[in-house]
Amino acid sequence: MEGCGSCDLCHDRTKVVFGEGATNPLVMVVGEAPGEDEDTQGIPFVGKAGEKLNSILEYVGVTREEIYITNSVLCRPPNNRNPRAEELEACKWRLDLQIQLLKPKLVILLGKIATQSMQEQPVKGALSQFFPENLKEQKDGWLRYSVGGHEAKVLITYHPSYHLRSPERAYRTTLPHWTRVKKWVESERQAI
Ligand code: URA
Repeated sequence: MEGCGSCDLCHDRTKVVFGEGATNPLVMVVGEAPGEDEDTQGIPFVGKAGEKLNSILEYVGVTREEIYITNSVLCRPPNNRNPRAEELEACKWRLDLQIQLLKPKLVILLGKIATQSMQEQPVKGALSQFFPENLKEQKDGWLRYSVGGHEAKVLITYHPSYHLRSPERAYRTTLPHWTRVKKWVESERQAI
């Protein structure tokens, strides 16, 4: 991917932030796009949002090394603007391939951009329509995503940067999501 020129983000990047973690992860986390720290270091989620993500993962009881962390696009958008639809689309085959090869049992989408990148249709309205407690039609409350013969459960929650902006509200809304992941990880470990 280091020579990728599939979209305009290639012009301003310092490093391609490919992703990091286990090659057989139970969980894959998908963020939005690299920020300044990530662009410099070539590693996802190493800035302030990364610190928040680390503390969430600690609550869940997983380490960064045993999961896989990547982003909806691999290159930093100028001035940290949101990635555009065509940039998400240009990077989607790579995200799909990572899911297909790494076969995570659960993919966690952090925020609207990550959710957008995995949907056929634009995400209209509030992100909360995808939260487990609002998924009336899914009996078990998990969404699913299939690619290349692999099916993963999907959980959508707010991005860690929302925790930095509105800590109390983010904590209240997302605690059930992360508790759900924590319990699911525990039950998967017992099943091994
Ligand atoms: N850092 C990342 O790698 N991704 C984000 O979405 C935010 C910060």
